[in-house]
Amino acid sequence: MHVKAFGGRNSLPSAFAGIKRMFIDRNSKVMVLTGAGISAESGLKTFREPGGMWDTYDWRELATPAAFEKSPEKVWEFYMERRRQIRDAQPNEAHKALVRLEKHMNPGRFLLVSQNVDDLHERAGQKNIIKIHGSAMRDICASCGSVLDSADSYNEFPPRHACGGLLRPDVVWFGEPLNSRDLKTAMDWLLSCDYFIVIGTSGNVFPVAQFVYQTEATKIYIGLEEPENSRGFQQVKLGKAGIVLPELIEELCEV
Ligand code: OAD
Repeated sequence: MHVKAFGGRNSLPSAFAGIKRMFIDRNSKVMVLTGAGISAESGLKTFREPGGMWDTYDWRELATPAAFEKSPEKVWEFYMERRRQIRDAQPNEAHKALVRLEKHMNPGRFLLVSQNVDDLHERAGQKNIIKIHGSAMRDICASCGSVLDSADSYNEFPPRHACGGLLRPDVVWFGEPLNSRDLKTAMDWLLSCDYFIVIGTSGNVFPVAQFVYQTEATKIYIGLEEPENSRGFQQVKLGKAGIVLPELIEELCEV
């Protein structure tokens, strides 16, 4: 594995300095996986870093079905605050670079799988995206399964659907299965993609952390530090996604 630190456009002549230069053909297949790190430069806290969400809050009390059963109010307060933060945030250079990469590829040759429950990829203009942990910007009725756009405020708290069931954020909590259709699409792409680019995830939340071992693609990681599954990657590029990713995509695609 090749681990390299990048400090920005001026610090090295090329994001591929010292590494065999590669180009992504428009017709090859590119799968990208993102985690909380890609939204860090937009001002959204990551989860496991010092000062991150799960350092400050106990996920057992906020991000499990049992927590919601015990105190839907407490869970909702947490997600309402997260929603406010997401609404105030803007897509950063890394989100925008992925949109350029998608536009560079021929139709049907790009897929983004994101673990992020924010909507910054979509607001940047990303099209073919699977949100494998759901979206904090949608509600789902815990009783009938109806999915609704999120609201800024609710008439009753915790909010209820018209059917009478409790609404909850449409996110996948700890202990819940991922959507099987999304998982199948991701697995199909893992088996057929040429490039697997992973950005800003600690690599320890399963099953997504296993993806890197389930593909024969060229595998590149970008993040502040080595992920826990770093041995699965051929290249690990250390640095901020908003700096390293645009450089990488420019190099790979000349876009
Ligand atoms: P983590 O918070 O576990 O990891 C974020 C990763 O991003 C870390 O490895 C950081 O080093 C890296 N990072 C931070 N700032 C960065 C930057 N500017 N540029 C690049 N990388 C940076 O977040 P995830 O791995 O995404 O699930 O967490 C996965 C899941 O765990 C989340 O979807 C969430 C969480 O619990 C649920 O809420 C169900």
